[in-house]
Formats: sequence, structure tokens, C-alpha cells
Amino acid sequence: MSTQQPTWWKEMSVYQIWPRSFADGNNDGIGDLQGVLDKLDYIKALGVDAIWFSPLYPSPNCDYGYDCADYKNINPEYGNLALFKKVLDGAHERGIKIIMDIVLNHSSDQHEWFKQSHNPESKYHDYYFWRKGRGKNGKKPPNNWLSLFEGGAWEYNENLGKHYLHVFAKGQPDLNMANPELRAEVKDIMRFWLEMGVDGFREDVITYIAKREGLPNGFPLPIATGFKHYTHLPAVKDYLREFRDDVLKPLGGFTVGEAPMMTTEVAKDYICGEDKVLDMMFHFQHMEADCFMNDWIGLPFRLKKLKKVLGHWQKEMHGDGWNANYPENHDHPRIVNRYGSLQHRVESAKMLAAMFILQSGTPFIYQGQEIGMTNIDLERLDQFKDVVTFNNYRLAKKLGLSEKFFVKYANRRSRENARTPMQWSGAANGGFCEAEPWFSVNPNHTEINVEAAEADPNSILHWYRALLQFRKKNPVAIYGKYQAHYKSSRSLYVYSSEHEGKKLLFVGSFSDKPQQFSAPAGFDLAHGKQVFGNYAIPAAQSNTFITKPWECRVYLFD
Ligand code: GLC
Ligand code: CA
Repeated sequence: MSTQQPTWWKEMSVYQIWPRSFADGNNDGIGDLQGVLDKLDYIKALGVDAIWFSPLYPSPNCDYGYDCADYKNINPEYGNLALFKKVLDGAHERGIKIIMDIVLNHSSDQHEWFKQSHNPESKYHDYYFWRKGRGKNGKKPPNNWLSLFEGGAWEYNENLGKHYLHVFAKGQPDLNMANPELRAEVKDIMRFWLEMGVDGFREDVITYIAKREGLPNGFPLPIATGFKHYTHLPAVKDYLREFRDDVLKPLGGFTVGEAPMMTTEVAKDYICGEDKVLDMMFHFQHMEADCFMNDWIGLPFRLKKLKKVLGHWQKEMHGDGWNANYPENHDHPRIVNRYGSLQHRVESAKMLAAMFILQSGTPFIYQGQEIGMTNIDLERLDQFKDVVTFNNYRLAKKLGLSEKFFVKYANRRSRENARTPMQWSGAANGGFCEAEPWFSVNPNHTEINVEAAEADPNSILHWYRALLQFRKKNPVAIYGKYQAHYKSSRSLYVYSSEHEGKKLLFVGSFSDKPQQFSAPAGFDLAHGKQVFGNYAIPAAQSNTFITKPWECRVYLFD
């Protein structure tokens, strides 16, 4: 494949919808597809080219859709297949593609397959990992693996005298992808959605879908014991190759795979070369600039780490690879709280937006990010909703931490921060619904909301729209070859990129204190055009300046 070959999915930008909290069309307090249908023009106006839907499938919601009870249907809370088709057609009419989330590592324990699997004679028994336990009565789990979400990774079933594997929550039994009949079902599911007209898939924790033969014990670790035996095994690629050859290639389906603990080296094996099995990948490394391995093990934010990781992915993916650039999704606290500043919310949100959208790759924007939504402060544990939060509370209690302390910590670290209802207006419940919303609305909706952002020409929303438009018109912002400057600065992020004779220079301050900036060698700012600034753009440009708090400037050189 040739270097930087233009492709539609490289040029697109994507809006992620977490359906439960996006828009409530029937006013029962839960986001739904009617709500999405009503907001298609809003999404179009943002200037994105695709929507990625977090799971819309029927689900008992132990992990809000990532526990899927029927892969070929729509959760009745969100609507039905006919309504989905309307959304699909409405999106297509507006030139917006639809990407479905597909969860292949596990199903829900309420899925028909899992129900049937309790019968050892049924073919479904082998769709999951049912194993005899250890110890005299077999009640000890088959190995020492831990669940990332809920205690041990095995759940015992008295009637069967066997345990089933769940790397995630108990309600998310792992699927045994080594079973060819199961893989045939997966292909059938993919075909179902592609034939209906969807354009591709975001594949959930895709690098976990193969397990080491014999399920051996793992090295003891907090929550991740066993991960080496279920992450990046060679069979993952075999399965993905089969899905590619039998379905995705013949029918034409885009893929982005979610891949925790991914490095550029491993990513290349999946997304580069003639035998690539995915179009792009969500890695997590740039989400670790203020934590260790996991959002919950918090550390102070380090700009140098962020720059190093992003620069490395830029360099390594240039050519045959491709970056999926995202600062937020449904699994992380809001980026303004993490890498930006609440005091300078508007300036820092704009700076962060330009920083990631103008790097080479496909930008993914998470609902609410485009208006600079922030984390929520909940007061009590019972206001939280996420299985991960409750698991961490269990661990915190073991460490002797109080509920009060934990709640304060969770307010900064939990996934719920991304899952509060979208703030459409300053009205009650942020205009999300009139009924009682399924989850707390951030009280700051009176100030931070779409209606207010629409009315303010200097809003974050308008800035996002301008950035996405600029990116569309300027291939340097899509395909540009990245170069890092100011690598050792703890406050300034400066990079340039170059494509077909055009250059772009990004300067961003991660500080409220003034920083001294001088243009890198080869850049004469007086000969460039400042195309973005989150403060007034000076009439005359000088090659040195002192930054204002969280200032961002973008220059274009023809
Ligand atoms: C992915 C999803 C996350 C989910 C997990 C288990 O990481 O993004 O929301 O909980 O997989 O399916
Ligand atoms: Ca609803």
C-alpha cells in the first residue's frame, strides 16, 4: 500500500454518541434514537462525517450496552429496528456515515446463547468458557485470573458444577472465539448490519478475543491477573482476517478496533501492510498523561509525557499506518478537567481541540466535548451508576478508605463523568428531558449548554465547527508529516506538520502563566497566516511572543 494513500475514512471526522445520555426523544428520562433523529441537523452542522454509536442493542445494562443480549436488535429503551433505519437513512441523506459498536469479547449473560450454554449437550456450551473448578468440591476457580470489573474472573454455577469466565463484569461472560460456529454467528451479525446499510464497526476490546490454550494461571496483579493470557494472542489476527475476508472486504466495512495496552509496534501488525485486519486502532497511551495504566491510579498531569506519546504515534503511523485521535470517550473523565483548566475552561478546551484535531489522523469527538462539558461532583456513592466505580469502591474499602474520600476521588476519576446527560439548554435537566433523567445532570448546564454555545460566536462549539471545516479544506491537517518542537517544555506544546509544500504550526500553552515563545527555525510568522487563535489575532505577527493563559495559535504557511 502506498504512503499516505487518501481514503474516505482518513478524511472523515467522527462524532461518538453514548445513546443513553445524548438526547431523549420520548421524554422518559433516557436518551434514545428518536432523540438522535431530532439532532441529526445539529450533528451535521458540527461538520462531522460519521457517527459512532456506543451499543444500541438490547441489554440488561450491567455495563450499559457493552453487555449485549441480542446483536441483531435495538434496545427497546432506545427504539426499534425501524427507527434505527430512519436514523440511518437520515444520516446518509446528510452525508453522515454510521459506525456500530460491536462487542465480540463477551455477550450478556441474558443472551440466548449464554442461556442455552447451560446445557452441556447444546452446541452453545462451547460458545463460552465453562470449566470445572479446582479443589475437592471443584468450587475453587479454574485459574487465578481476575476480572477487570468485578472480583475474580470466574463465576460458579451450582447446577452445572462448572465456572464460566468473565474478564469483565459477571454479566459479561467471555465468548470462545476459537469455536468456528460462533465465528459464523459473528460474521452473520456483521453481514446483517452491513446489508442494512451501516458503514462499519468499532470493535470493542478486540485484542482480547483470543485466550491462551489451557487458560494457565497469570502473574498476580491488581485487577489484571491473567491479562497476558487474553491480550494480543496470535489467534486474534486469525479471527480478524476471517471476518475481513468473508464479510468486511466483500461488503465494504470500515473498522476501528479498541486495544488497551497497545503499542505502535503491535498496532502496525493489525493496521499496516497487505495483511492488515483493521483500518485503525484506539490505543490508550495518550490517556495516561495523568495516571498510571488506568484512570483510577491518578498522577499529576505531565505535558512531556503527552507530547512524547502523541509524537511517537505520529511518527510511527506516518506512511502506512493511521491514527485514531481522541481525547475523550465514554470511558474517561472529561478532558478539560484532566489536561485543561476549569478556570480557563473555554481557552483550554479550544487549545486541546486544535491540538488533537490538526494532528494527522481521524478525529473522534465525544458528545458534549464540543461544548466543553466538565466532570460532575456527586455527593454520595448511591448516585453513581458504573460497575467499575463499584468495583473500585470494593478495593478502596479493602485499603481502609472512607466512602467520603472515595466519592471525592471518583468524582475526578470515574467514567460517569462522561456519561451525564448532554446539556442542550439552560432549562431544567439541561433540556435533556422534563421527566426524571436516568442519571444526574451537571448543575453547570445553566452556563454550559448547546443553546448558549450556538448564540455565542466565540464559543467552543463554533471553534470546533471552524476546526473541522479547516481540516476538510487543508490536507496538511489530515496527512501532514508531524514534527515536534519544544520537546522539553513542561508548559508549551508546539508541533508543525508538512504536506505537499504546505506547513502548519501549532502553538499551545498548557499553563495560566505567561510563557516565552520563539518561532522554531524555518518558521517566519510574519509570512504565515494565523488561522486560529483563542485570543484576538494580532494585526502584526512577531516571531516571539508571551503566551496568555492556555493560549493557542495555529499558523498556515503556503
Ligand atoms: C470497552 C468499552 C467499555 C466497556 C468494556 C467492556 O473498553 O469501551 O465501555 O465497559 O469495553 O465491554
Ligand atoms: Ca427516551
